[in-house]
Amino acid sequence: MKNILVIGGGAMGSAFTIPCLENNNKVTITEPYSKNFIKDLSSKNKFHSSLKINLPKKLKYKKFSNELLKQKFDLIVIALSLAGIDFIGKYLRDSKTKAKILVLTKGLKYEKKRKKLLTISEQLKNNYGLVNISVLKGPCLAKELGRKKQTSVIIANKNIKIAKWIGKSIATKYYLIEFSKDVIGVEVCSAIKNIYAMIIGAGQSLNTSSSLFQRSINEMKYFTKYFKGKEPTTLGLAGVGDLYVSTAGGRNSKMGSYLGKGYTYKAAKKKFMSKDTIEGEQLIREIGPFVLKKIKKNNIPLMNNLIRTILNNKILKI
Ligand SMILES: NC(=O)c1ccc[n+]([C@@H]2O[C@H](COP(=O)([O-])OP(=O)(O)OC[C@H]3O[C@@H](n4cnc5c(N)ncnc54)[C@H](O)[C@@H]3O)[C@@H](O)[C@H]2O)c1
Repeated sequence: MKNILVIGGGAMGSAFTIPCLENNNKVTITEPYSKNFIKDLSSKNKFHSSLKINLPKKLKYKKFSNELLKQKFDLIVIALSLAGIDFIGKYLRDSKTKAKILVLTKGLKYEKKRKKLLTISEQLKNNYGLVNISVLKGPCLAKELGRKKQTSVIIANKNIKIAKWIGKSIATKYYLIEFSKDVIGVEVCSAIKNIYAMIIGAGQSLNTSSSLFQRSINEMKYFTKYFKGKEPTTLGLAGVGDLYVSTAGGRNSKMGSYLGKGYTYKAAKKKFMSKDTIEGEQLIREIGPFVLKKIKKNNIPLMNNLIRTILNNKILKI
C-alpha cells in the first residue's frame, strides 16, 4: 500500500484517483486553485461536476497547504493544467519532499531566459531542482477513465525501475500501463498532438483528414527527433495513440473543423467555443514564435501554417 497525494482536483486528477484506490493505496487529493473543484471534493457525496460521477468514499480530500506537501508521501502526482506548473514547482521545491513525482500535465514551455523549449519534467528539474520525476501520458479521456473504460497509458522515466514501481502501484484490469525510457519523446508527442488534432480536424472530408493525418505523423516524427526524443515514441501511446483520441473526440479537432470551414480562430472561439480551453491554441501561443524562428518551414509545413494562422488570426489555407 502506497501513500499517494494527487495535486489537482480537475477531471484528470480526480479520475486518476480511481485506479489508485482500486490498488488499495491510501489516496489523498488536494486542489490549490479552483473553488468549484474544492467544493466538489469536500462535499459529502464527492460528486465531481465535470466527471459527473461520485468519487470513491475512500478518497480523502485535504486543503492545499505547505504543511500538506511536507507530509510523508510515497508518490506525488501533478494533475494541474500547464498554467499551474511554475506554481507547484515552487511549492514542491520548498517542501523538500522525498516523494517520487509523477506528472500527468501535458504541454511544453518556452523559457525566455534561456531561449529554449522545455518539457514539463525539464522545467521542474532545471528550475526547481526536483528529481525522481516520471511522466504519465497517452490516450485518456478523464470521463472514460472515471467510468473504468479500458485505457492504455505510458509511464516514462530514464530509470525504468521507478516507472515500473509506479506502474505496479496503479495498474488495474482497465488501466493498462506501458513503460519507456524516452521521457522527452513521450512529453513532446503528448503536447504536440493537440496541434495536429486541430490540423486533422480542419479537413472537411475523411479523405482530406486522412491525408493530413499521415502528413501529421511524419511531422511529429521530425519534431520529436528535433528535440532529442526517439522516433518510435511517435508511433506509440503518447503519439499516434493520443492523436487518435484527440482527433476523434476532442476540443482541438472541433476547433480545427471551424478553422477548416473558414472561420478565424477568434471568430470561431467567440461563436462556438467561448467557454472551452483549446490546449493546441495555448501551446501555439507558447511555442509558436520559437518554432517559426528555429525550425525550417519545409520540415513541418502543417504546423508552421497553423501557427501563422492562429498567431495572425488569419483564415486557414490547407
Ligand atoms: N496524462 C494523462 O493521461 C492525461 C489525460 C488527460 C488530460 N491530461 C492533462 O492533465 C491536465 C489537467 O487536465 P484536466 O482535464 O484535469 O483539466 P481541468 O480543467 O479539469 O483541471 C485543471 C486543473 O488545473 C488547475 N489549474 C488551472 N489553472 C491553474 C493555475 N493557473 N494555477 C494552478 N492550478 C491551475 C485546476 O484548478 C485543476 O486542478 C492537462 O494538462 C491535460 O492535458 C493528462
